[in-house]
Amino acid sequence: MNYSEDYYSLNKMLTNKPVNKEEIGIGTAHSKIILMGEHAVVYDHPAIALPFPAANTKVTITPSDSHESYIQSRYFNGKLAEVPTELDNLKEAIKVTSTSLNLKAKPLNILIESTIPSGRGMGSSAAVTVALVRSLCDFYDCELPDYLLQFIVNQAEVIAHESTSGLDTLITSSMQAVIYKKSQQPHPFSFGLDAYLVVADSNQEGHTKQAVGKVRQLKESQPDFINSVLEAIGTFVYQAMDAIRNKNIQELGRLMTYNHYYLNQLEVSNSRLDQIVNAAWLAGALGAKLTGGGMGGCVIALAQTAQEAQAVEDAMKAAGAIQTWQLDLKSI
Ligand code: PMV
Repeated sequence: MNYSEDYYSLNKMLTNKPVNKEEIGIGTAHSKIILMGEHAVVYDHPAIALPFPAANTKVTITPSDSHESYIQSRYFNGKLAEVPTELDNLKEAIKVTSTSLNLKAKPLNILIESTIPSGRGMGSSAAVTVALVRSLCDFYDCELPDYLLQFIVNQAEVIAHESTSGLDTLITSSMQAVIYKKSQQPHPFSFGLDAYLVVADSNQEGHTKQAVGKVRQLKESQPDFINSVLEAIGTFVYQAMDAIRNKNIQELGRLMTYNHYYLNQLEVSNSRLDQIVNAAWLAGALGAKLTGGGMGGCVIALAQTAQEAQAVEDAMKAAGAIQTWQLDLKSI
């Protein structure tokens, strides 16, 4: 079975897994998308984020024939003890899981399969870590409460990204969208909208850390202007929540486009992202914007029907997107 084609069926199948628990452990997780509010969220304005199951990760664990553990992944094939520093988060996740759950260490073969591109603001590293911790728990047949999963993954994410808001961990490990503010608990909600979200990979790595630094510098040099931009983005997010509640997808699309314009004022977009946003818009999208840190990464667009979503996807590809995905917003 191709796990990337049918993520839901795989999850269902795993619950009735007919194999010996001693021999195999399987864990899955999906990517995340920030719908609106990135950057402003750093300054305690709200943001909306949602799970994106079309791009996902599966980790399979089997016993190793040798006395050492091995990892097989897109970026590295070899001994776990010799992983490059970029994958230290995986070692940390295994260590914290083993300690927290009192697991008896065994040499393992760890196979990581992922359709989530890295460096695109889709939560690739958190998703891989969530799937890894779940596969370990499946292998050792132990219970994994959500709070413990999130604690372990956040520990590993600190290694990968120095600091973390916990948003990637939260969204990649659950099927609920949230409205999120740093100083408050996230509020889960359902979209249930007759609309499609199209996600397009710009084929450029995003630079979240630099983009956050740039906004900080701008805020220091032009505090009044930047504070008013951040404030406006926060207001768009609250208005977007009203639009979602009222099933007003035209208004939601408009707000997404305004949000992109204001992200441009923060100088975190670039010409390629703008071209893809414009192409989506000209192809009939209700709205389009960059998602995540920016300076590369992904663009998202809202379309009313599956057919319109396809036209938007085609236009985004013609404007330079290397890969696109669709999400039916009724399912989230
Ligand atoms: O690029 P991502 O998906 O990690 O999103 C970054 C979102 C920011 O608001 C720019 C930073 C943050 O920590 O919230």
